[in-house]
Amino acid sequence: MLIAPSLLSCDFSNFKGEIERMDNSGADIMHLDVMDGHFVPNITFGAPVVKEIRKCTKKPFDVHLMISQPDRYIDDFCKAGADIISFHTEADSDIEKTLSLIEKSGVKPALAIKPNTPADVVYKYLDRLYMVLVMTVEPGFGGQSFMENMMPKVEAIKEEINRRNLKTLIEVDGGIKDTTIKKAYDSGVDICVAGTAVFKAEDAKLEISKLKALCK
Ligand code: DX5
Ligand code: ZN
Repeated sequence: MLIAPSLLSCDFSNFKGEIERMDNSGADIMHLDVMDGHFVPNITFGAPVVKEIRKCTKKPFDVHLMISQPDRYIDDFCKAGADIISFHTEADSDIEKTLSLIEKSGVKPALAIKPNTPADVVYKYLDRLYMVLVMTVEPGFGGQSFMENMMPKVEAIKEEINRRNLKTLIEVDGGIKDTTIKKAYDSGVDICVAGTAVFKAEDAKLEISKLKALCK
């Protein structure tokens, strides 16, 4: 299992230090939550911030766009140093067009789906996707409870990926901690985002290794 700490739960007054702390704690990927106050009822940061924090680590940047018009900003986030870009199928942008923009920049494309969106919405695009992000909370805020009822959706997507012999990864986001990660693992998840669990832990390194050890 790969662990992607969500910087939404970090100490924003010490962005650099927090990224370095994760870098030294065995994080595999940095998960960056971009919110526009329109697609979700919260606002975080944009491409200029991503560009600055890109200098703090060599770890892959997984940019999760919770914004209404992702197509308008793909170029900015690619240039800012994103390695993976997820955008929501529920956003207003044309999915084909937005995927093409990401592909053209050489960044890995991913589609994200909210809890009420069915699995089959992503099937049509699976062969073009590096990853599918299945939300296990309503997007917008950290610290919410894991929706275990999303696991059949994860299993269905995994089955479709395997049936078609694809390499597309599955990521879940929201409520991942020591009591929930095994459920994600058993359902076929490859990458777990973890915000509160990792950043609020006394020892982030210990927490990440504990989460990984629970996946067997
Ligand atoms: C929610 C974000 C998540 C969130 C996860 O909209 O996409 O990445 O920060 O936080 P936890 O792990 O605390 O649920
Ligand atoms: Zn996220």
